[in-house]
Amino acid sequence: MPNITIQPLTIADADELLFISKTTFITAFGHQNNAADMEQYITEAFTQQKMLAELDNRCSAFFFALVNNQTAGYLKLNWDDAQSDGQLGKQGLEIERIYVLAEFQGQHIGKLLVDHAVNFCRQQNKAFVWLGVWTKNQKAIQFYQKNGFNIVGSHPFLLGQDPQTDYLMQKML
Ligand SMILES: CC(C)(COP(=O)(O)OP(=O)(O)OC[C@H]1O[C@@H](n2cnc3c(N)ncnc32)[C@H](O)[C@@H]1OP(=O)(O)O)[C@@H](O)C(=O)NCCC(=O)NCCS
Repeated sequence: MPNITIQPLTIADADELLFISKTTFITAFGHQNNAADMEQYITEAFTQQKMLAELDNRCSAFFFALVNNQTAGYLKLNWDDAQSDGQLGKQGLEIERIYVLAEFQGQHIGKLLVDHAVNFCRQQNKAFVWLGVWTKNQKAIQFYQKNGFNIVGSHPFLLGQDPQTDYLMQKML
């Protein structure tokens, strides 16, 4: 049985976070999007400066999932003012990013990360976990539904020059 652990990140993890963020984003969304839009988004969203600022935000937390000490995925949580959308209110904990590297998918690491978010939500005394997911990301939508999330709304998301729509999904505690 592999040994799976979840570990909080520190500022010292910024370079690895930058690498894994780019890699997982390209693998997950590259084939369904225009190369120029992907390039623009990645260049703007995933810079060392941004990673350092996000790691330093007191209302965000990052975690790596490690399989036998090898990084297999990561989770980014936001609360209060760090939430990327305020329409569901301050009682929510946002899963802003949850990514499992392709070679580790289907081994319940995603589920472990969702469970970690739910436990974190309880510790923060929040009422629900929510997230935004691209309407065309059917695989992730089914994964979240299986893990107790329901679609409760939507918001716009700009990928480069391409205006897209994310469903908002929510799991009440
Ligand atoms: C979505 C993602 C996080 C799921 O993680 P994962 O580790 O592969 O999923 P798990 O192995 O934990 O799956 C947990 C459950 O969901 C189910 N599930 C996973 N993928 C599924 C799919 N495509 N369709 C239906 N059910 C699915 C599994 O069968 C499992 O159910 P079980 O307990 O009955 O076996 C992962 O595939 C990923 O990182 N995708 C790319 C990035 C992405 O899209 N992230 C979300 C952006 S919002």
